[in-house]
Amino acid sequence: MVRVGVVGYGVIGQRLADGVALQKDMELIGVSDVGPTLAVQALKEKGMPYDFYLALPEGENELARYDVPVSGSLPDLVQKCDIILDATSAGVGEQNKKLYAEYGKRAIFQGGEKTSVADVFFHGYANYDAGLDRQFLKLTSCNTTGLIRAVDCLHRAMGIENVIITIVRRVADPGDYHRGLTNALEVEPVPNHQAEDLMLIMPDIKATGTLVHTPVTHGHVITVIAKPKRETTKQEIVDLFRAHPRIKVVRIEDGFLGNASLFRYARDLGNPRGDMYEIAVWDETVTVFEGQIIFVVNIPQEAVVIPETIDGIRASMSMQSDGDEAVCLTNRYLKLGG
Ligand SMILES: NC(=O)c1ccc[n+]([C@@H]2O[C@H](COP(=O)([O-])OP(=O)(O)OC[C@H]3O[C@@H](n4cnc5c(N)ncnc54)[C@H](O)[C@@H]3O)[C@@H](O)[C@H]2O)c1
Repeated sequence: MVRVGVVGYGVIGQRLADGVALQKDMELIGVSDVGPTLAVQALKEKGMPYDFYLALPEGENELARYDVPVSGSLPDLVQKCDIILDATSAGVGEQNKKLYAEYGKRAIFQGGEKTSVADVFFHGYANYDAGLDRQFLKLTSCNTTGLIRAVDCLHRAMGIENVIITIVRRVADPGDYHRGLTNALEVEPVPNHQAEDLMLIMPDIKATGTLVHTPVTHGHVITVIAKPKRETTKQEIVDLFRAHPRIKVVRIEDGFLGNASLFRYARDLGNPRGDMYEIAVWDETVTVFEGQIIFVVNIPQEAVVIPETIDGIRASMSMQSDGDEAVCLTNRYLKLGG
């Protein structure tokens, strides 16, 4: 059993903890945060399914006020684990890295950290081998994780020369009051970081694209234009996506009109918090135009990075030397791909 700790119990950390708890070959030792955040209050209300470790001593009185049982400090948690999933606010992971290094532990950081924080910039499908037995991994961001999943699916089958991507980016997660109550679009310079990140992970593909922030919270939408190395058809593309355990093909005709339909559907399925690990591709958007493949993807930003982060544990801990075997196990335990 690989012993895993989650540091930073926010949007991503809560979901990582749930995902790790489902893996039959991993043990979730506990989670850590700085104080009685709403997520920590909910953890207590649920009867402490996960042990809680206090990251900063300053939070002690506040936690006592909310009666949250504390199992120890962050160094206590780190010492009990083989690997830490750091999902703290962007930039904090770099500080925490010193502690993980001090105890000779492995760690996986999330997209908000600088890429230089880790030995390897990681994606479970596209570069599993690069993560094998490496101490520090950094996972791709939510958009990049979903984008690479789709592009890698096609690249394996036919080879992709280049991609051009347009991202309509949700401006905040649900409940992010600190981002303000906005009603405006904001445009980023070209290329967006997701295109640059894709080239870091998949250096044989050229990529560029635009990004527009939009004031919605339920999912990003990416339009992808990909140039394949050989001729293909819409049917082949749809079949490849359908066969991928982490990609769900949906149809506008069936009522999946946009990002909010997918969120409602996930809630109706009874998925915790309305989470979806899968990216969704709309069938009716898959087109081959003048030799180029076009499709539109929904990225459920709060849950999409969970499977690939768990792949990262498998790689860093050398649990499986074969990437295909590793992603299959993660998928099986997360019940992905039927
Ligand atoms: N929210 C998303 O959609 C999303 C998607 C993919 C990746 N990410 C990345 O995941 C990481 C976490 O983002 P998030 O959205 O979960 O943020 P969040 O604000 O919801 O959670 C971060 C948590 O870390 C805690 N924290 C802060 N300092 C800490 C410390 N010193 N020790 C322990 N805990 C500490 C905070 O109290 C908070 O609970 C970031 O790198 C982000 O870029 C976020």
